[in-house]
Amino acid sequence: MGKKVTVVGAGFYGSTTAQRLAEYDVFETVVLTDIVEGKPEGLALDMNQSRPIEGFETKIVGVTTGPNGEGYEAIADSDIVVITAGLPRKPGMSRMDLLGVNAKIVRGVAEQVAKHAPNAVVIVVSNPLDEMTALAQIATQFPKNRVMGQAGMLDTARFTNFVAETLDVPVKSVKTLTLGSHGDTMVPVPSQCTVDGKPLTDLLPAEKIEELVVRTRNGGAEVVALLKTGSAYYAPSAAAARMAKAVAEDSGAVMPVCAWVDGEYGINGVYLGVEAAIGASGIKSVVETALTDSELAGLKEAAEAVRAKQADIVSL
Ligand SMILES: NC(=O)c1ccc[n+]([C@@H]2O[C@H](COP(=O)([O-])OP(=O)(O)OC[C@H]3O[C@@H](n4cnc5c(N)ncnc54)[C@H](O)[C@@H]3O)[C@@H](O)[C@H]2O)c1
Repeated sequence: MGKKVTVVGAGFYGSTTAQRLAEYDVFETVVLTDIVEGKPEGLALDMNQSRPIEGFETKIVGVTTGPNGEGYEAIADSDIVVITAGLPRKPGMSRMDLLGVNAKIVRGVAEQVAKHAPNAVVIVVSNPLDEMTALAQIATQFPKNRVMGQAGMLDTARFTNFVAETLDVPVKSVKTLTLGSHGDTMVPVPSQCTVDGKPLTDLLPAEKIEELVVRTRNGGAEVVALLKTGSAYYAPSAAAARMAKAVAEDSGAVMPVCAWVDGEYGINGVYLGVEAAIGASGIKSVVETALTDSELAGLKEAAEAVRAKQADIVSL
């Protein structure tokens, strides 16, 4: 049997993720679900019709799900489930403003995932990301390595893109890293940033790096303000799809993701943005990076900020 991946939520993020996953042509089936009657079926029909043009064999199956879990049998035995269900931000909103409404949605989805796809690796993208990832683990009761969140890949890609544009070099010459939370306590790691192997700190003045860091931290809000309705999805879906591909291929690729950290960096028991090796079991291991004292202090501060918020989600 080939691999099966489910994307819950057929909005902008979910539908672009499903199309990217199908185009990789490494899955037998991509299941796309939503609560809006006909939306996932219509999108799946459209995506399947792109198969002869793009030349992939993966089949996309669209399924409308009901309030009592109707339709969820279609996700049975999924190897991977990507949870994108939930409201996106509007201009002026912080990700944290979505906490109450998205917690209800993510908890309900996660319970159905646990019931119908008990062996899946879960990749959460709904915001606020760190809290929704922690909630999905609580609601599924899956081992913590099998539940992770997508944020660091996106934040890092934004930082890399800004550096490449500033220096007018190819994006592939640039390596950047962000850790911490998907929000105000995002921790950029300039000491690990290079351009063609040269330290970024030798190529740009500290004030310019700080300017790019601030733009990266506000990268989502910048897109939201321009779109006026809805949030970013091309770069976010690329990040989630690459994570799912690494799981499907058991590649061991090291990526910045939201993972359960327990002991690494001297931080205990919290979902936090760190680098991790991704494979068939989800998080194979958290990979510790050499950090400067101030970067480590920033990561510990981020850990305490998300720990405080994650403690509240149990009651949501
Ligand atoms: N982690 C990240 O980096 C990142 C980046 C961008 C967006 N996001 C988040 O991803 C989420 C989705 O964003 P979007 O742009 O696709 O929004 P969207 O409004 O386009 O789509 C959300 C979809 O979820 C569906 N939905 C709602 N409740 C559901 C349920 N119980 N089961 C199944 N589907 C349900 C809606 O009907 C809608 O189609 C938002 O919470 C957004 O903030 C995260």
